[in-house]
Parts: sequence; C-alpha cells; structure tokens
Amino acid sequence: MPSTSPTAPQLDPQWEVPTHVAIIMDGNGRWARARNLPRLAGHRAGTENLRRVIRACVEFGIRYLTIYAFSTENWARPKEEVEGLMEIMEEFIDKELDELDEEGVQIRHLGRLDGIRPSLKAKIRESVERTQHNQRLVLNVAFNYGGRDEIVQAVRKIVREGIPPEQITEETIEAHLYTAGMPDPDLVIRTSGEIRTSNFLLWQAAYAEWYFTPVFWPDFGREHLLEAIADYNRRERRFGRVLDPDE
Ligand code: FPP
Repeated sequence: MPSTSPTAPQLDPQWEVPTHVAIIMDGNGRWARARNLPRLAGHRAGTENLRRVIRACVEFGIRYLTIYAFSTENWARPKEEVEGLMEIMEEFIDKELDELDEEGVQIRHLGRLDGIRPSLKAKIRESVERTQHNQRLVLNVAFNYGGRDEIVQAVRKIVREGIPPEQITEETIEAHLYTAGMPDPDLVIRTSGEIRTSNFLLWQAAYAEWYFTPVFWPDFGREHLLEAIADYNRRERRFGRVLDPDE
C-alpha cells in the first residue's frame, strides 16, 4: 500500500480516532452528470475512491469501516444501472480481494444474499470466507441492505429460536443483527450534501455522531476523512446523559 506524501496533513496525536466509521457514499450520479458522463461512470469513480478511503482508514487506525454500497431500495433504479452496479461490485472483488486480504482487511457482508445473482453471491461468500481471520480493519459492505429489513430479519430469527418475550432485551436484538459482536458506529459520514439516514444502520447508529459534507463521494478523499475525524473530536458525546451535572 503506498504511503502518503510527507506533506499530506496528518492525524493530530491528541485526537481520538473513531473505532467504527460508517459511510453513505452518495453523489456518484451528480458527480457524473457534472462531467456529462453516464451515471455508471460516477459509480466507477466512486469505486476507485473506495480504495483510497480504505487505505486512509488503515493508515488512521480505524478498526471498522461500514459502507453503504447498495440498498434494498436501489433495486428500483433503472435496470441498466442496477446491472452495472452488480458488475462493478464483481469487478471490485476480482481486482481488490488479494490486496485487501494481504493488508489484513476482513470483509463482511451486511444484507440479504437472496436476490443477488449467483456469480456475485459466490464472490461475496468467497471474500467473507477468505478474509475472516484478518484483524487490521473490518470492512462491512452493506449490499442489498436495509436497516428496517435488518431489524425484521432479527425479530424473525429471535421468534424462530423460541426466545420468550420477557427475555428479549436490547442485547438480544443486537446479537441478531448483521453486525452482531461489533461495536456501534461512532461516526457516520454522508457525502453529497443530503441530510437523511436513508435506512442505514437504523439500530446501530442510535448514538453515532453524524457528519455531512457537500463533497460528492468520488471526490471524498483522505483529507476529507481527516476533517471528519477532526470534527468528531470537537463533539461532546453524551449518550443521552449529562456529563457534568453542576454545569
Ligand atoms: C449513491 O450515489 C451511490 C450508490 C447508490 C452506490 C454506491 C456504490 C459504489 C460507490 C460502488 C460499488 C460499491 C462497492 C463496494 C464496489 P447516487 O447514485 O445516489 O448519486 P446521486 O444521488 O448523485 O444520483
């Protein structure tokens, strides 16, 4: 993995680096439109950018990166865009899996496998299996993912397991989500100026800090991630409590 130039802005050693960063990679279409390119060119540029951001996460010591790559609602997009996104995802795995594995990235899939074409499904399974013991960075790829659907699936599993209602706690729900065993996201970033959650990590992001930036995803680089981490460090996380009751 190439190191950054010595003049690139660096992490402040005083900062707390968020353990888990989640990103809604938005604005690929508008990035492409601004250049008179087809929307898929925007998704390709967004995929190229993903490599840069994964590298920056490894460099900064972020332990979990969750990316929203394809939502359960995205099936409603024009057929050629959906097909193109499936193709891009397959190409991404073909091109990047070896290097991600070498770099110690553990790939996890959040979402449903049903509905995904067999060739891609097999590649997702292979990526998850091959990298399962890697420890440097957990890369959660939310693909065919919806936050409400995730909760519905969790409830179904709980009911199937016959857990009595009075024994169901928040921990029970958490243990049945795709993210079971992982820390909740500390920081959720959405690019492209849109300010909404769009069914992403509805349960897990309950106490996350949200960071919105007008930058389109293909342009969101290492320096933007650094700025998001700086902003995160200016927040006071209270988790619903009062920090100093005398203030
Ligand atoms: C949102 O931009 C982006 C998506 C729906 C797809 C994100 C996918 C990628 C970056 C590439 C595939 C992912 C992997 C893991 C290889 P938009 O199309 O909604 O943009 P717009 O709002 O400007 O139209």
